[in-house]
Amino acid sequence: MIELKHITKVYGNFKALDDVSVTIRDGEIYGIVGQSGAGKSTLVRCINMLEPPTTGEVLINGKDMMKLSKAELRSERKGIGMIFQHFNLLSSRTVAGNIAFPLELANVPKAEQKKRIDDILEMVGLTEYKDKYPAKLSGGQKQRVGIARAIVSNPSVLLSDEATSALDPETVKSILQLLKDINKKLGITIIMITHQMEVIKEIAERVAVIEHGRIIEEGSVVDLFTNPQTPTLKKFVGSVMSSEVPEQLSHMDIHADKENADDQTVLSLSFRGDVANEPIIANLIKKYNLDVSILYGSIDYIQNVSFGRLIITIIGDDSDMQEALSHLKSLPITSEVLGYVSSH
Ligand SMILES: Nc1ncnc2c1ncn2[C@@H]1O[C@H](COP(=O)(O)OP(=O)(O)O)[C@@H](O)[C@H]1O
Ligand SMILES: [Mg+2]
Repeated sequence: MIELKHITKVYGNFKALDDVSVTIRDGEIYGIVGQSGAGKSTLVRCINMLEPPTTGEVLINGKDMMKLSKAELRSERKGIGMIFQHFNLLSSRTVAGNIAFPLELANVPKAEQKKRIDDILEMVGLTEYKDKYPAKLSGGQKQRVGIARAIVSNPSVLLSDEATSALDPETVKSILQLLKDINKKLGITIIMITHQMEVIKEIAERVAVIEHGRIIEEGSVVDLFTNPQTPTLKKFVGSVMSSEVPEQLSHMDIHADKENADDQTVLSLSFRGDVANEPIIANLIKKYNLDVSILYGSIDYIQNVSFGRLIITIIGDDSDMQEALSHLKSLPITSEVLGYVSSH
């Protein structure tokens, strides 16, 4: 378990991290998402003490990283692998030579090095590229080498700092799949630092959202995606789940205020497939005597949980409408009045 407790990092008079507390469980894939400059890299570098926090505690399996001697810290760091946006490979070494590097530093006997390198090459799918130099590899292949080098000494934790940010979308998918496989097969805890919400959606079980050096939201990815609280997370989620009015409805004149008594209310409903088992639409019609039309529906998946979105118009008595809206608020779904459209 990795526990960050009340971490603060100050550069001069600038607070890059401000009272950050996070607990990461063994074997999970934990995401940390935020815009550029939010403090993500600083935070991840606090975990392996490349950047010791100004105040606070970093506990790894209960061990206080701030209190270790240099030698103890070196030995702890062997349990933490790291991958980077720009791969940081040695251009003068082959694929196998790059992967050998940490083993050489740890004085692993040559025969064992060879065996481990062969195993890991197979795992990342680069067996045939063993003797090639980085310059001959694609971005995705370079990152596979980076991953192989990071895990060849059997760390229990892998830190990934924007490791997919320099790759095209297809390659991102294949690298994320590889990381998921590694997490499953080897049980390595993975901490994914990214500014890309689709990475979080694809791979993380839990996530912390960081802004101006503070954690502004934290929890399971499914919960946070279905019910984001802060404008920042709403925007992030919108970038992958689209909470805006869909393109298909852009021809409609949705206005912010009711202009005529018989205007229809446009409502957006978002819900988790495994939570919303009430027949929501049927109840709006039956219990609240409303006329309901469905304008748009979509279903998305966050890992294996379905996430639905409906945009409907409703029309009916004001009092029925108010009751219906407050009923919707009581359900484990997100409902939002998008505006009003005039009836023709
Ligand atoms: N060594 C440093 N000295 C001074 N300021 C720094 C240093 N490292 C990072 N910062 C500042 O801290 C803030 C957070 O940086 P960083 O952790 O790299 O953000 P992110 O990885 O989220 O883009 C930025 O404003 C950055 O300029
Ligand atoms: Mg960064």
